[in-house]
Amino acid sequence: MANKPAFYIFIIGTLSSLVLFLGLTWDTHRQVDALTNADKLNDQVVAGKRVWEKKNCNLCHTILGFGVYYAPDMTRVYQRIGENGIRLALLEPERVFADSIRKMPNLGLTEQEVSDVTAFLEWTSNIDNNEWPPQDRPEKRAERRLSAGFTLSAGATAFQTNCMSCHAIGGAGGSIGPAFDNVGAKYSAADIVRYSRDPRSIDPDSLMMPVTGVDDDDLRAIGDFLAGQRGGGNGN
Ligand code: HEC
Ligand code: HEC
Repeated sequence: MANKPAFYIFIIGTLSSLVLFLGLTWDTHRQVDALTNADKLNDQVVAGKRVWEKKNCNLCHTILGFGVYYAPDMTRVYQRIGENGIRLALLEPERVFADSIRKMPNLGLTEQEVSDVTAFLEWTSNIDNNEWPPQDRPEKRAERRLSAGFTLSAGATAFQTNCMSCHAIGGAGGSIGPAFDNVGAKYSAADIVRYSRDPRSIDPDSLMMPVTGVDDDDLRAIGDFLAGQRGGGNGN
């Protein structure tokens, strides 16, 4: 190619990419307050961020792309495991992660610090960053399975929506509570319902908070579904 056209292609290409890049950067910055819900950034959220820094959670966790990938990404943890899941991970890591090869240390947080850091993680989870990092949320997983031709029973679907953030079957699900591959050998359907409504009526030391927001029919269906899990089940 002759020198002149090559020169113009280079100049015009570079300049138009630069203009586009600066324009998009400006456009994103213009929206930062709205995307981050800056109006909800209250004192408790700020206090939670200070706890995060003081305890150096970044040493093992990543948040908003910053940190280490030894432990789960915290950007959307509030959506993934909720307030109770975060509390348990922070206050009782020895018990919650007893079966895991990775270890979350007990950082000796006070109740106040737990509430603050939870507020911080709730706020971060609501930042509109185009759903990054992608979360395999139970509802989504259920939808995918249904569209792939699996027919999930009502119990399996309700389990995915309400319990799977903390309990796994067949290796899929959260690790805050014990895995349920063999839970049917330990509890009857009725006991599982009772455990869900009032964990301490069955196990006085239970760490699980009573399940709320699930109606009786769904919970009975979950009980029947789980009572059938006797090892090797694939979660359907
Ligand atoms: C020394 C490393 C380390 C430090 C420091 C650490 N964590 Fe963790 N954390 C872990 C590991 C490892 C896990 C995952 C355990 C597992 O699932 O096996 C974890 C799990 C969690 C979970 C549950 C995540 C999920 O998706 O189930 C939460 C919440 C959490 N940590 C919060 C924190 C907070 C908040 C701090 C700072 C106050 C912190 N961690 C500091 C190692 C660490
Ligand atoms: C926020 C996390 C969380 C959610 C959500 C959750 N659980 Fe749990 N669950 C736990 C934890 C933690 C334990 C372990 C309690 C202990 O051993 O102290 C547990 C224990 C249990 C046990 C006893 C298991 C055993 O081996 O003894 C049953 C049964 C149970 N959960 C049922 C359910 C059902 C059904 C749902 C959904 C309707 C549910 N859980 C939702 C955290 C959770």
